[in-house]
Amino acid sequence: MNHLYRRRKGFPALTALLFMLLLQVFSQANVQAEKKTFVARNQTPVHKTDADLQPDLLIGERLFYGLASFEAGKLNCEGCHSTISSEAMNWNPSAYDLAVWIQTKKDENLRKAFEAPSSEKMETSHKNLQINEEEAKKLRTYLNWVHSKGLAAHKPFPIRLIIFFTFGLLMALALIDLIKTRFLKYRIIHVLVLITGLAVHVQMAVVEGQELSRTQHYAPDQPIKFSHLVHAGENKIDCQYCHSGAMHGKSAGLPSVALCMNCHNIVRNGRHSGKFEINKILAAYQEKRPVEWVRIHNLPEHAYFNHAQHVAVGKVACQTCHGPVESMEIMRQHADLSMGWCINCHRQTNIAFDQNAYYHKNKKLLELVKSGKVKQPTAETTGGLDCMRCHY
Ligand code: HEC
Ligand code: HEC
Ligand code: HEC
Ligand code: HEC
Ligand code: HEC
Ligand code: HEC
Repeated sequence: MNHLYRRRKGFPALTALLFMLLLQVFSQANVQAEKKTFVARNQTPVHKTDADLQPDLLIGERLFYGLASFEAGKLNCEGCHSTISSEAMNWNPSAYDLAVWIQTKKDENLRKAFEAPSSEKMETSHKNLQINEEEAKKLRTYLNWVHSKGLAAHKPFPIRLIIFFTFGLLMALALIDLIKTRFLKYRIIHVLVLITGLAVHVQMAVVEGQELSRTQHYAPDQPIKFSHLVHAGENKIDCQYCHSGAMHGKSAGLPSVALCMNCHNIVRNGRHSGKFEINKILAAYQEKRPVEWVRIHNLPEHAYFNHAQHVAVGKVACQTCHGPVESMEIMRQHADLSMGWCINCHRQTNIAFDQNAYYHKNKKLLELVKSGKVKQPTAETTGGLDCMRCHY
């Protein structure tokens, strides 16, 4: 009797344990995959062990971080020239910027740069800095290494991972207690812990899975510190001056270097960044190469989106979809670009049927409105919910 009773009780618990393990593996794989995409977007992190191999590199790194003394005393380059990609705009050149810059210079120029500052801003920032030939060489070795590695990724606090493992641990404890130790008398506690834990894990697996293909809030470092706040905000430059495709075609498009030069032929000194960033525009222009902006918004292949349809016909403001761009120092993706996001807006947005002759060409729509079946047509009425309009 006792024997049978034990088996019946152990069996569901074991099944639950197996199920949980599977789930752990599954959602963990998702968390890992997400981490990978994050690092890939932000270049390779620094591996300290590489530095151990070369004394020059190691000393160069320590000098840069202010951990070793220069001949002129303790200086810290990292305080201004960051080695980590930041979430907020850091107007000083990053260590990676310096590393790219130095590739175009001959060996001795790091010291020359100190003796002949390229702008007023640099002159004030570097006022008390002096380096000698040896130090310049070691710093250069370090910067060459930064050039090959890129900036380290900014790592957010892994709160979700901690919640994930805490619930994993609680569930395991509850199960062990249920099967073996029997420390807690009331079984309802075990059941509650297991149900809550499972729910949390499933929820996380689903969310991580969805976010894998999406990039809401994505705000990568760009090759030039271009600020929409400075251009569209403070200097009130019209969005369509730079994104002229939005009115006429599928893509809004990005401006060419030649367009930047319309103004930066004259504007050579930025209030925040001095000359360093604007010099990058001049260099690209002279070398006749495009700036390789990192693309932020990206719908999957199977979805079709057209700017002119929304901007010219629908009269939807850029900010409705892209957020308060004119106040963004670093451009970031505002909406999640999910199918639900498109559909919801199509359901809710009235179209200006009366004012826009374009709609009167649509016979079906004209019929619906004339007959009074539809009082106020929305983007849904015009076919904004048909699968084929958005999917190839
Ligand atoms: C002086 C030129 C200029 C003006 C004016 C300007 N932009 Fe941009 N925009 C750019 C450049 C350059 C980029 C690429 C760099 C970046 O992402 O910051 C960009 C990127 C973007 C992106 C992201 C593109 C992607 O990769 O997905 C959006 C969205 C955008 N701009 C919207 C706007 C809106 C809305 C306005 C008006 C409020 C505006 N822009 C005004 C130059 C401009
Ligand atoms: C109805 C929503 C919506 C409106 C309004 C809108 N955009 Fe977009 N925008 C998008 C979506 C969605 C994408 C991604 C398109 C893709 O990946 O094919 C995008 C992409 C972009 C890009 C990246 C390059 C490209 O063309 O794909 C830029 C730049 C941009 N938008 C600028 C603008 C500007 C400037 C305006 C206003 C004149 C504007 N957008 C209005 C939804 C919108
Ligand atoms: C219509 C004129 C105009 C165009 C086009 C333009 N800019 Fe500017 N840009 C300005 C002005 C004005 C400033 C502000 C200078 C200041 O007072 O700091 C500026 C500042 C900057 C700065 C320095 C910001 C700071 O405060 O340090 C950078 C970097 C920059 N622009 C990059 C670009 C790039 C890249 C393009 C092309 C995609 C571009 N600009 C196109 C007018 C323009
Ligand atoms: C107080 C902040 C600050 C500190 C500390 C600092 N820098 Fe800079 N540095 C700047 C700024 C700002 C610029 C760019 C300004 C510009 O180009 O207009 C700059 C520019 C540079 C440049 C580019 C030179 C050029 O001609 O464009 C180099 C190289 C450089 N710094 C190296 C260093 C090194 C090495 C250290 C440490 C010994 C250091 N900096 C410490 C602020 C700082
Ligand atoms: C902020 C509101 C808004 C969002 C978000 C939005 N749309 Fe639209 N969309 C409109 C409006 C308004 C129209 C009506 C213009 C018209 O009648 O053609 C429209 C029309 C369309 C049409 C044309 C329908 C027809 O009449 O043939 C397509 C296709 C479309 N949208 C695709 C998309 C896709 C894909 C997305 C998401 C990536 C999206 N839209 C997001 C407002 C929006
Ligand atoms: C207004 C535009 C629009 C309409 C209408 C639309 N879709 Fe989508 N759909 C999208 C966009 C945008 C995505 C990409 C979403 C993402 O990346 O998460 C998508 C994604 C999907 C996916 C991939 C799964 C997913 O969520 O990513 C499927 C399947 C799909 N749509 C089926 C349909 C079917 C079936 C219909 C008709 C009932 C339809 N869609 C109508 C815009 C639309």
